[in-house]
Formats: sequence, structure tokens, C-alpha cells
Amino acid sequence: MTLGKAEPKQLVAVVMGSDSDLPTLQPAVNILEKLNLIVEVRILSAHRTPLEMMSFAKQAQSKGVKVIIAGAGGAAHLPGMVASLTTIPVIGVPVQSKALSGVDSMHSILQMPPGVPVATVAIGGGLNAGLLAAQILAISNPNLAGKIDTYRQSLHDEVVSKDQKLIKIGTAAYLAKMN
Ligand code: RP5
Repeated sequence: MTLGKAEPKQLVAVVMGSDSDLPTLQPAVNILEKLNLIVEVRILSAHRTPLEMMSFAKQAQSKGVKVIIAGAGGAAHLPGMVASLTTIPVIGVPVQSKALSGVDSMHSILQMPPGVPVATVAIGGGLNAGLLAAQILAISNPNLAGKIDTYRQSLHDEVVSKDQKLIKIGTAAYLAKMN
């Protein structure tokens, strides 16, 4: 399902350090496609394919990319390295690592030096990265802002519906239905 008409010139790039990061980044791709934005998805490792990463970052602006979402885990240098090569806003997604549960990824992405920012979402925060990218584009696109409002309204309605169900059937029955 998509929300309204296409946004043909609103290109978002979603890049990740490994295909093992894809489950974390897929929610970003899903919400961007649901909002009818064009998404380019790439596997680009700051350590294993640094030249391909550089080439992507240097060409992104001329290809019309407006926001870059970059996810990586462990020694997560991809978002910061991409940010160092372009002035396109970069949203970093710390991927949950096995050894340190993503705290390593978070610190690697979050602790950028002054002058080269990366807007960092929560560990595993692919969905919010997608929404934040859309919100950045919506600054100059009222139609897109309206679609995000519709999405937020659906979140609101879902919680109200759960609240009404809880009031109606009580906590024990609600919990039983959740399990
Ligand atoms: C990082 O190393 C990637 O972003 C990934 O999160 C992590 C592990 O990569 P794989 O060994 O699963 O390819 O560069």
C-alpha cells in the first residue's frame, strides 16, 4: 500500500555496510516506498569496499539524492565516512552487533567530530531513519508532509483502539490475547 501520489524527484539513498544489515534497514526502505519516494539501496562497506563507498558519496548529489540513510554495525564508520564526502544530510543507523549489542555501533556513528554531523537514530532504528528522511524532504513538500500526517494519524488510531479494547475486556483477557 502506498500513501497518495508519487514524489518523482525525491530520491533517498539507503546504504549499509553488509547484507547482514539489511533486516535493520528494510523498515526504512518500506516506509519510504510507502510514502512513494524513490529509494536507491546499496551495500557499501567503509572497510571492505572503500573506493565504491567514496564513488557513491561523491556522485550522490549529481544523481539527485537529497538524504542518505547509512547503517552499519561494530566499528561503524560508513555513516561518518559518507558524511565526510558530501554535504547531503546523513542519517546514521547503528546496527545491533553480536559482541556489544550495538553500543559500539552507536558510539561509532554518534560521536562525530565537530564540523561533520551525522543525525543518529536509535540502535536498530531503521523505521525512524526512513521517517526522518521523509520529514527532511517534507520541509519543502506539503504533499509529502500530508502523507506523514496520515501515517501519524494511523499510529494514533491504533493506540486509541488498543486503549478501548483494554478498557472493554480488562488486563488479564488483553494479555491472554497478546500471548
Ligand atoms: C560492518 O560489519 C557491517 O555494517 C556489519 O554490521 C558488520 C558485520 O558485517 P558482516 O561480517 O556480517 O558482513 O561493517
